Amino acid sequence: MAILKFQRPNGTQDVVGKQIDKWHTVEDIVTSEAQVYGFSEIRIPTFESTSLFVRSVGDSTDVVQKEMYSVSAKGDAELSLRPEGTAGAMRAVIENGLLNESFPQKVYYLLSCFRHEKPQAGRLREFHQFGCEMVGSQDPRSDAELISLAKSIIDRTGIKGVELYINSIGCPNCRARFTEALKSYFADKQDSLCDNCKNRLETNPLRVIDCKEENCAKIAKDAPIILDYLCDECSEHFEKLKRCLDAMEIKYTVNPKIVRGLDYYTKTVFEFVTTDIGSQGTICGGGRYDGLIEQLGAKSTPAMGFAMGLERLILTMENQGVEFKNEPTCDLYIATLGEKAEIKAMQLCSQLRENGNMAECDIVGRGLKAEMKYADKIGAKFSMVIGDYELESSSARLRNMKNGELSEIKLDGSFAYNFESVLVSFLLGADDIFKQ
Ligand code: HAM
Repeated sequence: MAILKFQRPNGTQDVVGKQIDKWHTVEDIVTSEAQVYGFSEIRIPTFESTSLFVRSVGDSTDVVQKEMYSVSAKGDAELSLRPEGTAGAMRAVIENGLLNESFPQKVYYLLSCFRHEKPQAGRLREFHQFGCEMVGSQDPRSDAELISLAKSIIDRTGIKGVELYINSIGCPNCRARFTEALKSYFADKQDSLCDNCKNRLETNPLRVIDCKEENCAKIAKDAPIILDYLCDECSEHFEKLKRCLDAMEIKYTVNPKIVRGLDYYTKTVFEFVTTDIGSQGTICGGGRYDGLIEQLGAKSTPAMGFAMGLERLILTMENQGVEFKNEPTCDLYIATLGEKAEIKAMQLCSQLRENGNMAECDIVGRGLKAEMKYADKIGAKFSMVIGDYELESSSARLRNMKNGELSEIKLDGSFAYNFESVLVSFLLGADDIFKQ
């Protein structure tokens, strides 16, 4: 029979070995910082009804038109793997009655998302988002608070040189006037736009502004800017946000080209961008979406949020040489000689683990030399060898794997449960640990 070789699907990643340290480092930072800002975790399904995404992300967006993984299983309505977290999070907020609780409701999530895009560095088909959503405040102070949270997270990762760009894309009223202005600006230039943009001019003119095609970008350079079309309310909202950011000493650049690729945004939009990971440098994107909750069938409620791509955060940290925390390694490796010692080592390991210590002994049948090599390889901090002599004398020599120092210890019934104090005495250089 032919041997089948399987490979992971294009645009996905395995996380193995030391790589997980990076994920744990970043996950610890994002969750602890979100909690400091009063956000609680929510967990939502990996797939939702396709119509949820069509209605929220928008049926003219690339995400919905080209990138969703959708299936219709056994006659059910069509379902799609989530391409992002906001739609599902808002569905959950509504469905679980959080709109009846006191505002603001602040939720965060860590989840995988799926988009059928062309894979490249920092762009995957399955990727991971950390997202925060705040529901129930239309005050620009909530915009500032969210931006401040995103910035604190980025600062805590230790990466440098990340730029914050902000913009306002107004409410449906100002947007309508702006869209007209855009259409008339592009009217005599349509033929030079890419096919996508020719389409977008009809379905989603705002997106023409941030097309990455060189020619479109050139043409869009002198296009009208939305900030000139904001109504008084949207304009004042943006000004107050800027006053808050200034007071909080958060540096930003107003960039009228930031329009975001999802349809639900209103007023504030923002992105944190690095130049250190190539063309996919947007680490974090977000904004206000005051119309979404009503669009999903609930009472009109303002909301906003952001999401960060964890792969992009990690990539930036790697490229900038930021240190990741190391996962804990084995506290004590017990090497053995003979079956009685093997059984004793099993007992000791079990007691040490009960006591919260990471202990290992041989369970694959290595010889003594190979056992010590293995102890070294797994980064054991201490080791000891048990053989007949140790069993008879109820003592053993503990080795500090870092400097080779040895110390005689008592191997009685309390050894495992007093392991920490045995170590402290050893490390402090107490003369006679044996008497502990
Ligand atoms: P988004 O800009 O589509 O916004 O995605 C947010 C972040 O996810 C991006 O800034 C990027 O870091 C990461 N990302 C997106 N696509 C990929 C990909 N193919 N591969 C790797 N990373 C990717 C949203 O998804 C909104 N839901 C954000 C939001 C939350 N707005 C309000 N609340």
